[in-house]
Parts: sequence; structure tokens; C-alpha cells
Amino acid sequence: MTTSQASTSTEKFRCLLVTRGEGGELSTAVTTRSLADLPPGDVLVRVAYSSLNYKDALSVTGHPGVTRKFPHIPGIDACGTVVRSTDGRFQPGDQVLITGRDLGQNTWGGFAEYVQVPADWVLTLPAGLSLRESMVLGTAGLTAGLALRALAHRGVQPASGEVLVTGATGGVGSLAVAILAHLGYAVVASTGKHSEQAFLKQLGAARVISREEVHDTTGKPLLAARWAGAIDTVGGPTLSTVVRSLQRGGAVAACGLVGGAELSLTVYPFLLRGVDLVGIDSAECPQRVREEVWGNLAGPWKPACLELLACEAGLEQLPALVDSILHGGIRGRVLVDPHR
Ligand SMILES: NC(=O)c1ccc[n+]([C@@H]2O[C@H](COP(=O)([O-])OP(=O)(O)OC[C@H]3O[C@@H](n4cnc5c(N)ncnc54)[C@H](OP(=O)(O)O)[C@@H]3O)[C@@H](O)[C@H]2O)c1
Repeated sequence: MTTSQASTSTEKFRCLLVTRGEGGELSTAVTTRSLADLPPGDVLVRVAYSSLNYKDALSVTGHPGVTRKFPHIPGIDACGTVVRSTDGRFQPGDQVLITGRDLGQNTWGGFAEYVQVPADWVLTLPAGLSLRESMVLGTAGLTAGLALRALAHRGVQPASGEVLVTGATGGVGSLAVAILAHLGYAVVASTGKHSEQAFLKQLGAARVISREEVHDTTGKPLLAARWAGAIDTVGGPTLSTVVRSLQRGGAVAACGLVGGAELSLTVYPFLLRGVDLVGIDSAECPQRVREEVWGNLAGPWKPACLELLACEAGLEQLPALVDSILHGGIRGRVLVDPHR
């Protein structure tokens, strides 16, 4: 084992702990635990930053599809410095990041000063990204990157035509707008926040449209062909509208479900326009794809406006921010500094 003197098993660390009472009710508090309480793992990391994602809000509020084991520390993202490692791939002092897998689901996560995880979950911080930038991106950036990769593999290029991003002021949405615009795509941003048009244009959106424009409930099998491609973070009737509005040969990457998990469609968009509906799974995507996308996010895909997207919070502020993200109230990305 390689180790630094920075930690002993009795050392305490701060965290946001969710506990379940005997009646099943959940409560959330900033508290301390000792390093010995961490789950087993090959690599102990002192967390520099985590970030807030919609899935974290589901974990904090006890969504059984995300978290079943309590007491629990949420936080599906973390970056920081390796303190000790039993795996030769990582040494004390290495800067690393972890997103997805089981982190923050049923394994204690990044809303803490330390995480301990299997070495296979850990990525060396790619050259070109600071720790802070890696968490402005976080799971949201990886998801936007996977979606862009999926569209590009299906031939959606900047010259193909307009690409729609739904839920555009959210974490995945705002990063998708920024990355696509940075690469020269003509991005149309759909939002429910009328006051954020200027923000979306600053990120590079060519046009901003209202959420209602992408919410057709007429049941028509096909709608006017508008989009060469789309990145959808909303799901439900929005995703159904997008599929029916794709141009011939277009593709949509389905990332989210904030607007519903049901999908009402006929096969006509697939048979008559040859469109593609591609699913995105950032939590369990293969390591090789993860490394490829993070390499791009640190290099040619890295938008210049990352800092414009970021606001910073400490652990104490998280319960209010969780409530806000559950109600679609967040703009851009919330960086979590557990030492604040
Ligand atoms: N597949 C994956 O691997 C993956 C990875 C990350 C996230 N996700 C999913 O992607 C979604 C977005 O995650 P996030 O972390 O970016 O969340 P977020 O920051 O809260 O963004 C969601 C955005 O969607 C819009 N929205 C919220 N409620 C809506 C509603 N009822 N109808 C239509 N639009 C609504 C809002 O943007 P506007 O106000 O601008 O419309 C909101 O800011 C979530 O469902 C999450 O679970 C999936």
C-alpha cells in the first residue's frame, strides 16, 4: 500500500449525511464521520470539489431507484487528490476524478471531504482540465459529451442544420449548448426560463425558444421536420415531440426525464424519416469511452465559457439547492466545496 501521512482511520471528515428514521422518514444534516466509516475501496481521495446533479437530488430525497442504503452520503461526482492507494495505477498526490458508477448512489459519495472507491472507478485528471473545471463539467459534462459523440457518430455535423437542446439552462443542457456552439453547431436552446435568454446566447445559442414549442400533445405521428439533431434532457412529451420533429436521418440523444418517463410515439418517424433515438448512460459507460470523452472535454470540446456556468456552494447550502434542482430552478452548474 502506498500512503501519505495525511490520514489515519480515526481522522474525522465533514459530510452531508442522509439518515432514515424508524418510520422511514429521511433527514439530512451536515455532520462528521471518521475515515474508518468509509466503504471499502482501493483509493482514498481527499475531495476538492463535487457537483450537484439532478440524480443527487433524487438520492437525497430517497428515490428507491437511486439510493436504498442509509445512512448515506450523496454526491455522484468527486474530484481531488489521492491520499492512499492499494492499486499501482494511482499514487498519493495524483489528481483524479470519479463520476457515476455507484458513487453517491449506494456507495458514499462526493458530498464529503473524502471518498474511498474501487480503483476501476477512478480517472486521472486529463491534461488541460483543472480540478475545478472537471467538476463544472462533472456528470453533466460527460453526459453532454456522450450525447454529442452519439450525434456525431450518426452523421449530425455542424453543417447538417439546427440542433435542439431541451432543458437548456440545466446542468446537462447548458453544457450541451456551450459545447455544441463551441464546435460550430447552430444551437437552438429550449427553456422554461424566459429570463435566461441572454445567458443562453452568451453560451452560444443561435436561437432561444420556449419550452411550450417543444411540447406537442396532439398525438400526430409526425410534425414539421425541424431539427438535424437534438440533445434532450426532459423526456416525456418533450422527447416525443423532438422525435416527431427530426429531419430525415436526424438523431436525438435521450438523456433525462425531468418532464416524464413515459414516451408516446408511433414507429412512423423511424420508418418514414429514418431517425435515430439514442440512449445515453453516463453512469455505467465503458471506461474506454469515458476516457475518450473526458479527453475531448479537456481539449477540443472544452468551451471557453465554463466559468460562466458555475456557482459554488458548501455542504450547508445543499438542502436548499436540492429543493431548487427538483423544481427545475438551477441555472448551469453548482460546484460543491466540502471544505467551505
Ligand atoms: N442519462 C444520463 O446518463 C444522465 C446524466 C446526467 C443527467 N441525466 C438526467 O438529465 C436530466 C437533467 O439533469 P441535470 O442534472 O442537468 O438537471 P437540471 O440541472 O435540473 O436541468 C434540468 C432542466 O430541465 C428543465 N426542466 C425542469 N423541469 C422541467 C419540466 N417539468 N418540463 C420541462 N423541462 C423541465 C429546466 O431547464 P429550463 O428551465 O431551461 O427548461 C431544468 O433546469 C435529469 O433527468 C437527469 O436525471 C441523465
